[in-house]
Order: sequence, then C-alpha cells, then structure tokens
Amino acid sequence: MGRVQDKVVFITGAARGQGRSHAVRLAHEGANIIGVDICEDVKTNDYAMATPEDLAETVRLVEAAGGRMISTIADVRDRQALRKAVEQGIAEFGRLDGVVANAGICPLGSDDPQAFIDAFAVDFNGVVNAIEAALPHVSEGGSIVATGSLAAMMTATGENPAYGTGGAGYGLAKRMVASFINDLAVVLGPKGIRANAVHPTNCNTNMLHSEIMYRQFRPDLEHPKREDAEPGFATMSPMNVPFVEPEDISEMVLFLLSDASRYVSGMQMRVDAGSYVKLRPQPPQF
Ligand SMILES: NC(=O)c1ccc[n+]([C@@H]2O[C@H](COP(=O)([O-])OP(=O)(O)OC[C@H]3O[C@@H](n4cnc5c(N)ncnc54)[C@H](O)[C@@H]3O)[C@@H](O)[C@H]2O)c1
Repeated sequence: MGRVQDKVVFITGAARGQGRSHAVRLAHEGANIIGVDICEDVKTNDYAMATPEDLAETVRLVEAAGGRMISTIADVRDRQALRKAVEQGIAEFGRLDGVVANAGICPLGSDDPQAFIDAFAVDFNGVVNAIEAALPHVSEGGSIVATGSLAAMMTATGENPAYGTGGAGYGLAKRMVASFINDLAVVLGPKGIRANAVHPTNCNTNMLHSEIMYRQFRPDLEHPKREDAEPGFATMSPMNVPFVEPEDISEMVLFLLSDASRYVSGMQMRVDAGSYVKLRPQPPQF
C-alpha cells in the first residue's frame, strides 16, 4: 500500500518543476493524477512556460511510477477550462481526493501594470479557480494544498523597485494565498476537508533559473549567470543552501495529501531551509 493509495489528485502547473515532481511522487505512492498546465508563454513573464512536450513527459514519468494521469492544456485563469479538466479526470478515475494548486508565474523586473495583473491573476485567482473547480467533487477526508512562497511571509515585495510591478503582484498573490487557505480551513473543517499552504523558498526550477531572477541578486551585472547568483541565494538560508529541490517540496505535499496528516489543517508549511526565521527571528504570525 502506498501512502496515498488509490487517491486521485488534481495538480495545476503539472508539466514541469514542482508540479511534475508532485505528480510523480504521489504516483509512486499509489495516486492517480489529473494534471493541467498552460503550455504557452505569458507575455509579461520574462522566462518561458512549459511546453506540451513537458506535459507529455510528466504523463510518461507518472506512468513509469505506476500511476495513471489525465492531462489537459488549460490556463488556471480559465475557470471553465479547469472545471472541464477536472470532470474529464473524474469520468476516468471516478473520484477526487485532493488538489495541489501549484501553477505560478513570477514576472519580475517590469514596470508594466499588466505584469501586476498577470501575477495576481495566475498566482491568486488561479489558486481559487483550481479549488473551486475541484471542491464540488471532494468529499470527507479530502485535502486541499496551495503553493505559496516564502514571499508570502515578506512585507517588502511591493516596496523593492527591482521586483517591479510583477514582483508586487506576486507578493500580494502569495500573501493572499496564505490568508485564503487559513480561512478556507475554517470553512471546510465541518465537511472533514483540510486546507493547507506550502511555502517554498528558492527552488531548483525554471522559475528560479531565469536571468531576470539572477538579476535580483546581481543587479550590478547586465547578464548574470547561475554561478553569479548562487552565492546570493545561499545567504537567505541559515543552512547556507542556495535552493531546495522540487522533491523536497513534494515530500511535504505527499504528507499533506496522505491520511498521516488527517488532523493537520490551516497550516502554513514552510519548506525553506530556515530562511523565514533568519528573515524574521520572532514567533511566527500564523
Ligand atoms: N522556484 C522557486 O524558487 C519558487 C519559490 C517559491 C514558490 N514557488 C512557487 O512554486 C510553484 C511552482 O513553480 P516552479 O518552481 O515549479 O516553477 P516552474 O516555472 O518550473 O513551473 C510552473 C508551472 O506552472 C505552469 N503555469 C504557469 N502559468 C500557468 C497558468 N496560467 N495556467 C496553468 N499553468 C501555468 C508553467 O507552465 C509551469 O509548468 C509556483 O506557484 C511558484 O510561485 C517557486
């Protein structure tokens, strides 16, 4: 028996990065996956999104791990498309036990107001849309997980000019994900459904490894490379690691989707190599 044996989990942003890692890890533990990804670039976002080939590769990896996956190309800003994807998955698997609202963009370094809107629409509205599409099908014992960020715990994302309008939208969206999940846990508690947020620090994915992200840490260089930025990444963590791996986040997601966490709800789970307590050495607010 796997830790999430025969559960069905809806994952957004499943084509690569953390979403792919969650899909594969959960499949290893007996789950079947309903996965969506935009597989198309977002204009205000400086680095490329996943491709249809990436999504197909996730399906292949899930199957290699012993699971099944129904995949759909869909934008989390499109609530109807998410509903359809969920319904198609349920038609195949017959049930839905959990959600990982993970899809995200980080359009840093722009002064275009549209970058603020896009970040908010994907990183907050997209989370609400995913949960709304899934909730009518999730019954007692279900588990909702939303991906936030260490940025949800920082107050300065709207004040740092280097982050730009997109960074301000990202920070606001992630803070709201934290609050939304907090209150959602209260609302869903009587139904026996849990809601938790996972907050990664820098994670070894395409979102982190983009020139625009490197430039936040090396504003003195016009075209900073990974090796220029990594020492800066590492200063965030008291453990002195530049980033965590997607698999580290997947372990937390697996725990939250499994019955081992049956009385864990309303939590803000940081997987941040201690970065939060370095940033704010005081009792947590949540
Ligand atoms: N990488 C980091 O350093 C880091 C740190 C903290 C939080 N996060 C969060 O982790 C989550 C996963 O990001 P990642 O690190 O795997 O980055 P990533 O860029 O590799 O993956 C994000 C995935 O989401 C998809 N996506 C983007 N917009 C979408 C949309 N509108 N609809 C559907 N799919 C969409 C992308 O195509 C991609 O496959 C995001 O919510 C991100 O904000 C990442």
